[in-house]
Amino acid sequence: MTLCLKPLITPAPSLARVTKIPALNRPADGAADNIASTFLADMVAGLSKSPKQTSPKYFYDARGSELFEQIMRLPEYYPTRTEMGLLTAHAMELADFCGPNCLLVEPGAGNLAKVRLLLKNLQSPAGFIPVDVSGSHLHHAAHELRLEQPGLNVLPVCADFTTGISLPHVASDRRVVFFPGSTLGNFEPHEADRLLASFAQLAGQGGGIILGVDLRKDPAILVPAYDDAQGVTAAFNKNLLHRLRDELAAEVNPEQFAHRALYIDDLGRVEMHLVSLMAQTISLGGHSFQLEVGETIHTENSYKQDLTELVARCENLGLQAARILTDSRQWFAVLCLSVGKTT
Ligand SMILES: C[S@@+](CC[C@H](N)C(=O)[O-])C[C@H]1O[C@@H](n2cnc3c(N)ncnc32)[C@H](O)[C@@H]1O
Repeated sequence: MTLCLKPLITPAPSLARVTKIPALNRPADGAADNIASTFLADMVAGLSKSPKQTSPKYFYDARGSELFEQIMRLPEYYPTRTEMGLLTAHAMELADFCGPNCLLVEPGAGNLAKVRLLLKNLQSPAGFIPVDVSGSHLHHAAHELRLEQPGLNVLPVCADFTTGISLPHVASDRRVVFFPGSTLGNFEPHEADRLLASFAQLAGQGGGIILGVDLRKDPAILVPAYDDAQGVTAAFNKNLLHRLRDELAAEVNPEQFAHRALYIDDLGRVEMHLVSLMAQTISLGGHSFQLEVGETIHTENSYKQDLTELVARCENLGLQAARILTDSRQWFAVLCLSVGKTT
């Protein structure tokens, strides 16, 4: 996976953007257009690789986000339930970690179910900035949150958190980046480190990161979480092909692909693939991509973390684990990381 992680998320220097909060179901700013224009280029690049590989961020349009919400409710999908349990059981500790007048930023915010558990216990929060590529879903979720917590300053930003984006400036005593859902596991370890470093820079010295990660465990637990009996994850995976067809006018038939999930022990990751059920050609943007029968498009990695290794990597980045919360089965961990000196 080649995601551009070089530019950092930076707080915008001016207060002006705060007044440009978009209407419901509208992209927050021009960033949404950039996301759309890179979709074709990234797909052509990914399908030109051998083996073919695409980024998981492209699963998410309105339908992809809806399917992911269904995945989070599946009996096989333990991560959401386990993490929500931790966030609920340790709500006061997490609020203490954030401190009063804190600005919370959530990259890859989704439906905002988890952050609600934090926000309702924060002492006079300065604001909340959810960031997501899935624009209409983001704005709908932000609208619902505003209705629920009218006093809260909610400033959604539709953008790709792996590229340089500006965030509205909000005066606060502390900035905390909330990154749950084990989204970190979608990145190669060196990319994950760069992403954490960019979050540390955003939070600034004295700030914090609350990070939710899925831990290594028996593949008999892991694989069904990515290959459920009802086929919801299969539909989520194939949503990429629907997007290619509907948004990029690709000639591709999603029915000619099967979903596959497997655990690669050496690498400690679950992989998701789309398997070609026949020899076929995908036509996209003036290019033709041949697939043999059985050939796959590698659509997602989900690295499962070794907690000791992860804490050591965080320390190397100047992030001290102030608190580590795990469930009784040690399936999931929430780390409260304090940002030391940033480079
Ligand atoms: C696994 S879900 C997690 C959602 C939520 N944080 C949670 O833990 O329940 C990933 C979310 O991140 C968004 N996303 C994925 N890659 C992204 C990127 N590069 N930039 C912005 N949002 C991204 C998706 O649209 C989706 O809403």
